[in-house]
Amino acid sequence: VGKLLDDYDFRGADLKQLPVVLLGFGKVGQAFASLLEERQGFKREGIELRLAGIFDRGGGVVGMALPLGEIMAAKRTSGTVASVPDLGCPGGRAGDALSSYPHAVLVDASPTDPTSGEPGLSLVREALERGHSAVLASKGPLVSAFAELLDLAQRSKCRLGISAAVGSPLPSLETVHLSLRGSTLRGFRGIFSATANCVLSDMESGVSYQGAVENARRAGILEPDPRLDLEGWDTAFKVLILARSFWSPTLPLEAARVEGITGLAGSDVTRIRESGRKLRLVGTARKGPSGEVAIRVAPEPLAPADPLYLLGPAEKGAEFDSDLMGRFVVWSGKAGPWTTAATLAKDILNIAAHPTPLAL
Ligand SMILES: NC(=O)c1ccc[n+]([C@@H]2O[C@H](COP(=O)([O-])OP(=O)(O)OC[C@H]3O[C@@H](n4cnc5c(N)ncnc54)[C@H](OP(=O)(O)O)[C@@H]3O)[C@@H](O)[C@H]2O)c1
Repeated sequence: VGKLLDDYDFRGADLKQLPVVLLGFGKVGQAFASLLEERQGFKREGIELRLAGIFDRGGGVVGMALPLGEIMAAKRTSGTVASVPDLGCPGGRAGDALSSYPHAVLVDASPTDPTSGEPGLSLVREALERGHSAVLASKGPLVSAFAELLDLAQRSKCRLGISAAVGSPLPSLETVHLSLRGSTLRGFRGIFSATANCVLSDMESGVSYQGAVENARRAGILEPDPRLDLEGWDTAFKVLILARSFWSPTLPLEAARVEGITGLAGSDVTRIRESGRKLRLVGTARKGPSGEVAIRVAPEPLAPADPLYLLGPAEKGAEFDSDLMGRFVVWSGKAGPWTTAATLAKDILNIAAHPTPLAL
């Protein structure tokens, strides 16, 4: 992106295209491709995001004028984008597409594997080593190799976009890194999993646990591996990645104590609701006086005075506690693949953005 921006004329007419290579063409990947098409690559931002490669487990399609309708149809009928006539590359690698487009940004919308970080980790590593910025919806590479990727990005003078991996579309990173600059962040807590929120809200109105999980699956907000959402790990990974970005890139996963919602009976949820409170899966991180960070994920009864109490079923919110500026609360009423796609686009546009006269 740096190289692209060097010869970019921001004064007007000279609109440039920024190639984007996409790994993963499931719910998020397809929403991202459709969003770029619907918004004409966000041209109104002064730079056009252009899909130059799409990859799934069968291979990929590469080119600067990818026919999205045909690609969607091929995916539906054959299961892979690689079956698109003429453009498809069965067995093709996203790394090879990056070689064809030296300025391209990589988007990782592949499944989250927190142990190996794959399939995204190798490709994100390869992209950063070769000077491509990378934007991730997947948490896998950030749980397994955060410090290494941050270091690689710094050495290669490129950027990592991670907003879509930490509870999109909440602006948690911007809140702390920009709005609380100069203050000390003492801790934060939030509802980072719309899935757990939806399941608990459904259970409050008498839906069984299994029925509530099925509703979340139909809404497209359940992780490819549902245990991540329901056992609390999805929330723990988001809180861990945020805590690493705020405090220490090497913070270990072992700093987290994690309890999910799988063991809850419908009667637990309704009893708390009848007492005027709401049971919600809350992720919390606090930095102690000697610098140690404790992360906890657990269902908590929230009283009406709690800012997180107000969140609706598919909503997320977080509260940040700082010494100089007090408490900040952020809240979003949207969740799901389309919102995640918009958050990926936001990160790319911010990476490509020219500094403005307004200090941000
Ligand atoms: N769903 C959401 O609302 C949401 C929100 C925030 C973050 N996320 C994160 O975004 C990521 C994608 O989620 P999703 O819901 O879109 O999942 P998904 O529907 O299961 O899609 C995953 C995609 O990754 C592809 N893939 C898997 N292994 C691959 C490999 N080895 N090489 C290339 N492609 C591979 C799959 O290919 P095939 O199509 O060939 O199987 C599929 O296209 C996950 O990491 C998730 O945690 C999701």
